Amino acid sequence: MAHVTRDAAPRIVLVGATGALGSAVVELIGDLGMAYRDVQLVASAGSAGRRAPLRGRLQPVVGLEDVDFGAADLVLFCAGEAVSRRWAHAASAQGALVVDASGAFGADPATPVVVPQVNGHLLHRRPSGPVAGAGPLTVALVPLLHGIEHRWGVRQVVLSSYQAASGLGHQGVEELLEGTELALHDPDAEPPADRFRPALAFNVLPLVGQLLPDGSSGEERRLVQETRRVLDRPHLDVTATCVRVPVAHGHAAAVYVEAESPVVRGELTELLASLPAVVVHDGGCTAAPPTPLTAGDPDRVHVGRIRVTPHNPRGIWLWLVFDNLRAGAALNLLRIARIALAGAGAGVG
Ligand SMILES: NC(=O)c1ccc[n+]([C@@H]2O[C@H](COP(=O)([O-])OP(=O)(O)OC[C@H]3O[C@@H](n4cnc5c(N)ncnc54)[C@H](OP(=O)(O)O)[C@@H]3O)[C@@H](O)[C@H]2O)c1
Repeated sequence: MAHVTRDAAPRIVLVGATGALGSAVVELIGDLGMAYRDVQLVASAGSAGRRAPLRGRLQPVVGLEDVDFGAADLVLFCAGEAVSRRWAHAASAQGALVVDASGAFGADPATPVVVPQVNGHLLHRRPSGPVAGAGPLTVALVPLLHGIEHRWGVRQVVLSSYQAASGLGHQGVEELLEGTELALHDPDAEPPADRFRPALAFNVLPLVGQLLPDGSSGEERRLVQETRRVLDRPHLDVTATCVRVPVAHGHAAAVYVEAESPVVRGELTELLASLPAVVVHDGGCTAAPPTPLTAGDPDRVHVGRIRVTPHNPRGIWLWLVFDNLRAGAALNLLRIARIALAGAGAGVG
């Protein structure tokens, strides 16, 4: 059952293993050839007893009640906020490194929010509680801002997102596809609107997450909080409008950054291209900007439409496209795990 590579390799528990993000984590563990002693796949009681693939073999899925966190080195929570709130601290208290994808602890000052390329140093001492992986927009954005900040300083960030249905998991994609098919056959039919309300098919929804009393959304607030925390800029002027679009998979964002000093476009392009997890699509007038369908490598952030505004040489526009499950989440979770476990002597190698 286990892929035993060496004694120091971690015993991993993956909570939410049957979901969109959990499946991406399983896939990535295989693609990266990660060493582990054991991986336990965990899902809701409804899935317990099923089998799910792990490195080409089917493995049983268990419910949370059957997990012995005391026997785990690493627990990845990919099953929603409620599950994380109920179980993450308990798992951590039993000695496991806990990495949470749900955003449940992002506002808790005691929980580090981490994008390793920017603030991985927070993991050099083993965290005493859960570590929060930032949300996909933050994961894609902050390495770029970090680079720009070092060279020119960052005064303001304004982001508009175009987020795919898979941001709401398998059911989000199913609902989009079902609604699209229904509308193609009968334009007067009522499409399903359970995960997205109103329905997402042939629509654009300017609200991702809950509407908050100040008029912003949960997703927008998460982006602002996480960006400030990861960059360690608690008062950075960052604002966003997050929009759901009828795309199955792959988020995009248009980002305006006002730097502290004038920016030279060629230098900016070079700087972005030098960042390890970034692909710059910049071939002059003939280059097609990246799109969710055409961008390529799911483990990198694709940047195009790089502009310095003509009337303000401190103003920059960027167009980002990235796989919300791989580059935006799974890779970040596993990078966090790798660094934190290496610090504790158990390697994910
Ligand atoms: N989708 C993304 O782009 C993305 C990116 C970053 C972070 N996240 C976060 O990752 C989490 C999962 O999202 P997702 O998109 O993968 O959703 P999803 O496709 O709906 O998957 C949810 C997973 O959680 C499991 N689950 C639900 N209730 C559970 C319970 N009571 N006990 C144990 N397992 C339970 C489900 O198991 P069953 O199959 O048995 O129902 C399934 O494996 C969310 O917190 C989300 O915010 C998602």
